[in-house]
Amino acid sequence: MKILFIGARLFDDVALYTKKNFIHSIISESNAQSPNLKLADSKYIVSRGMDEPMKIAIKEEVDGVVPLIGIDGPLIEVANMKKKLENEHGIPVVASPVSATRTCVDKFKTKEFFVKNNIKTPEYFKITKNDHENIQQKIENKEPMVLKQIEGQGGSGIKIISSINHNKGYFQEFENGVAEKYIEGPEISIEVLRWNEKTVPLVPVYKGETTLEGIHPLKKMKKAPLNINNINNDENNLKIQEIAVNIAEKLGLEGTADIDIIFNTETEENNVIEINARPSGTRYITNAATGINIMHELVDMASGNWNHLKLKNKIKNYSAIEIPVGSYKSNKNNYKFREFSNKNSWIIHGPKDYERITIRGETMKKAIKISEDLKILKYDTLFKL
Ligand SMILES: Nc1ncnc2c1ncn2[C@@H]1O[C@H](COP(=O)(O)OP(=O)(O)O)[C@@H](O)[C@H]1O
Ligand SMILES: [Mg+2]
Repeated sequence: MKILFIGARLFDDVALYTKKNFIHSIISESNAQSPNLKLADSKYIVSRGMDEPMKIAIKEEVDGVVPLIGIDGPLIEVANMKKKLENEHGIPVVASPVSATRTCVDKFKTKEFFVKNNIKTPEYFKITKNDHENIQQKIENKEPMVLKQIEGQGGSGIKIISSINHNKGYFQEFENGVAEKYIEGPEISIEVLRWNEKTVPLVPVYKGETTLEGIHPLKKMKKAPLNINNINNDENNLKIQEIAVNIAEKLGLEGTADIDIIFNTETEENNVIEINARPSGTRYITNAATGINIMHELVDMASGNWNHLKLKNKIKNYSAIEIPVGSYKSNKNNYKFREFSNKNSWIIHGPKDYERITIRGETMKKAIKISEDLKILKYDTLFKL
């Protein structure tokens, strides 16, 4: 079995798995300095873009391709490559096809997709530089708005405006965008896997409450499974999983995707805000809570060994928390320690100064106990357990 991985940055999450399964791993990467290059069986240093990786896949006669790409930018090119490799060479590429990708990387197209399919999403309108009136009016009515750029991730190009003065700078920087109604409530992510037309949703993850300051969930503590006060969580978590499956199937997502939701506390409705059709940073806490390592699932898809029923049977119900710790002294932030060793254990991951610790517990109490022993709760000032 031979698999081409495009991009080395996330390869530390799969290095042991490929070895254990006797898979010959090839990496293509444009940065010759990437520390993960040495973890693969062979490597190619290539220029940016998908032309060279595509040629390597054909020349090496690989069994499948797994793009290890955690950002939006290259996804359309990846999808075009997928079309060619799958249709003309019979080589599966574990990524979403062109049309789904186009919808996900464009926040306006995503909104149109939600509306067309009756999927609850915050009200919105398209904005242009010469059309502020609508926004002014909303703000005068004391309805905060979220301004977004069509493309963006990690909070880039996002501004929450709750007073007229907030509005001005945005249009000096940007020409246009989308204005969306501000929703107050818990932020949620759910990851969904889909391959051979079979879909498996994983666990809804709690990412903190929305704030008018717009602090991105990347900076907050996370918890799984989602547990909102004063509602029937079993029911709501099932609803969220149904939303994820519906989106994955309507869009034709493939591989992995993560769906971002805000639970509107006032109306008690789940509002979908975006879809990221690629491996997401939520995958570690999803693994802690379910026992499912999404990156390993992608490898199974590429090697023809993925079975949705087998996966469903493997899903566990642990409790999990994840805390951004900046930098934490440990020797565990490397490829050797990417798996949870047992039902009460932790891992550390992420780049220097942006490290995160993810904890699995048999119960939430046990997970919290581990975080206390690690003395990391102090890093989180925004969150009460
Ligand atoms: N309608 C909204 N109401 C409240 N907060 C929002 C809304 N839309 C976005 N946000 C805040 O901005 C963050 C980033 O928005 P999102 O659309 O997910 O873009 P990104 O691609 O940057 O993650 C969200 O996680 C949330 O904190
Ligand atoms: Mg988001």
